[in-house]
Amino acid sequence: MPKITFVNGSGVPGGEIVIECEPGTSILHAAEDADPPNPRVGMACGGNCACSTCHIWIHEGEDSLTEMEEAEDDRLDMAFDVRPESRLGCQAIVGDQDLVVEITPEGLKAWLDEHPDHRKTG
Ligand code: FES
Repeated sequence: MPKITFVNGSGVPGGEIVIECEPGTSILHAAEDADPPNPRVGMACGGNCACSTCHIWIHEGEDSLTEMEEAEDDRLDMAFDVRPESRLGCQAIVGDQDLVVEITPEGLKAWLDEHPDHRKTG
């Protein structure tokens, strides 16, 4: 199974979290379904391509992901700090290669907004 390394999965630099998932799974759902501690990827719209809180940067393995479709491209226009390596975690489907991913600041903030009980402990 491919591995996904979230270089800042716990929300801090160096807070790497590595998970495995079945090919055909979105990066967001792989993060959500992983054994705790789960990578902190926001998902305000529940993975329906209707927000940009799952915005991530793909550092390695981008060629193995599904192609970006127009709806994802349009939705990324709402995101902050969009880069060539930007994807929406709910729309990027894992192939057969390992990935290295960074959660954007807006994704980390959205996750904390969705999990306020973690605000005090970080
Ligand atoms: S969770 Fe809203 S667009 Fe991905």
